[in-house]
Amino acid sequence: PKETSVFSLVQPSGTMHLGNYLGALSCWGDLCRIKQHETQDLLFGLADLHAITVPQPQGKEFMKQKYDTLAYLIAFGVDPAKCKLYMQSDVREHAELAWYLSTITNISSLSRMTQWKAKSAGEKNKATDFSNSSSSLGLFSYPVLQAADVLIFKSEYVPVGEDQVQHLELTREIAEKFNKQFNCDVFKIPKVLLTPTKKIYNLKNSEKKMSKSDPRPGAVLYLSESNEDIRKKIKKATTDSITDKAFRFDPKERPGISNFINILAGIEKKSINEVEVDLENLRSHSDFKQYVGDKLIDWIEEPREKYLELSSNPDYLIQVALEGKIHAQKKAQETLRQVREVMGF
Ligand code: ADP
Ligand code: NA
Repeated sequence: PKETSVFSLVQPSGTMHLGNYLGALSCWGDLCRIKQHETQDLLFGLADLHAITVPQPQGKEFMKQKYDTLAYLIAFGVDPAKCKLYMQSDVREHAELAWYLSTITNISSLSRMTQWKAKSAGEKNKATDFSNSSSSLGLFSYPVLQAADVLIFKSEYVPVGEDQVQHLELTREIAEKFNKQFNCDVFKIPKVLLTPTKKIYNLKNSEKKMSKSDPRPGAVLYLSESNEDIRKKIKKATTDSITDKAFRFDPKERPGISNFINILAGIEKKSINEVEVDLENLRSHSDFKQYVGDKLIDWIEEPREKYLELSSNPDYLIQVALEGKIHAQKKAQETLRQVREVMGF
């Protein structure tokens, strides 16, 4: 068996954008590339059971959306030769363990979760008064399923962004509580591997993050975008009118420019400083935007091509997900056997 295990899931939302890449995918890709993958068990997948806590397409359409996300993952660097990729719903043990864990999780802990507060927002007495809540039970117990995901593989490291740290903390609490209550050490206490995420902002409004739910045209750069559209969006992106200064990273004074510098650093795997040096000789905003467009197109062409190729090859994607399922299921079944034994099932 390999020495350490790393585990993470992403929701299969289909269309992916630059924010998704720089905030999540690129980190998984890096983990695949670093040499330790030989001693690391890398398991990644699509959190389709989590995705349905908010409305999703159904039937074949949802299935297509999931395989589409898988194609993005692989094309943009999550290499199935170095890691396993699976669909959460293929491993039914997740749902079973989530039930067991829900019986030792306090409602008060769950109602403290900021994601719950945010996603149930818009409701009158969001988060704490349930008598009129129209949120689903699944949205509320989301972190319990997440705990089950992580714990069932005895994962040691869980790469997540800042926004998921609170859920991971709850996972650790649940694991400790279970081990104590059933006087066992079935669960390993997982550690957060805080991903060096770059928060990418909306191209039209640098106060908002880039998100597929933004309806403004030109606000989001998708990973399947054509060269022409990339150029257009960059050209129309909101920057500033400061003309007497070099292009430096200054999120407060120059959010639009800084967002692009951040994007360049992310795709080129350079430091902000190195990017600033690259930009030293650029004078005008149009030169700057031309430069950003060149770099983005240079970077995206190969993975975008691969994405298009993969998304028209369902047999391959099905094979990847099947191999992932077999691997994940084996581990999950063994942990669940131990859980059931200590609980008395
Ligand atoms: P969206 O906001 O487009 O719906 P999701 O919420 O599905 O994106 O996020 C999927 C993953 O991508 C998460 O890990 C999230 O942290 C990351 N992510 C999403 N948008 C951004 C962004 N603008 N900058 C950095 N990371 C992001
Ligand atoms: Na979102």
